[in-house]
Amino acid sequence: MSNVEVHWHDHAVSRAERETLNGNKGCVVWFTGLSACGKSTIANMLDHKLHKLGKHSYVLDGDNVRHGLNAGGAMLKDAHGEDFAKRFGLGFSAQDREENIRRIGAVAKLFSEAGLIAITAFISPYRIDRDLVRKSLPAGDFIEIFVDTPIEICEKRDPKGLYKKARAGELKGFTGIDDPYETPQNAELVLDGGKKTVEVLADEVLAYLQANGKI
Ligand code: ADX
Repeated sequence: MSNVEVHWHDHAVSRAERETLNGNKGCVVWFTGLSACGKSTIANMLDHKLHKLGKHSYVLDGDNVRHGLNAGGAMLKDAHGEDFAKRFGLGFSAQDREENIRRIGAVAKLFSEAGLIAITAFISPYRIDRDLVRKSLPAGDFIEIFVDTPIEICEKRDPKGLYKKARAGELKGFTGIDDPYETPQNAELVLDGGKKTVEVLADEVLAYLQANGKI
């Protein structure tokens, strides 16, 4: 038996009441794909379009969340010391990526329960981790969107010069180079990130949300 007693408190304001006030259903729009495939840009364009429609959304983005909740390495060491960084900091090992996605999944779930459209933009390379988030949510609330951009195009964009470093062997375990990316098999949407514009792709997601009664 556990020696920790934690009870779940029901909220005084129901989810349905929040959704009515917000004018949209809560859900998780989960973008996945290689580094530089366009996840964050499309996510932000979608967020902007939703905002203009008076809907309530928020973007959780890999690079940003790894500066706070899921920080790691020197950043955390400088702020809280070596031991703390070792215990809670997240890097890019398979185990750390798993924990990264677990934490994001939990946060995104809370956002959705608050009646928000939680938009996440993480590589989330492993199928099992994405599926665990899917399973944690009611049916229909997890909308997996695979941004399908060929690696050659991602590598050519290389906005942070990381593909170059990975090819040179200066960065180990980089997704798509020497760490796997597991393509989604049952994504709700697949976006052609190599050919279409960000505007068109964000509209495809918007159309999905409309067709499925989320907005
Ligand atoms: S995930 O694999 O755990 O989902 P996440 O989306 O949070 O990754 O972070 C990816 C970002 O971290 C990339 O866009 C890139 O800027 C940076 N990064 C640094 N090292 C790596 C690495 N080894 N593999 C992938 N991305 C990396």
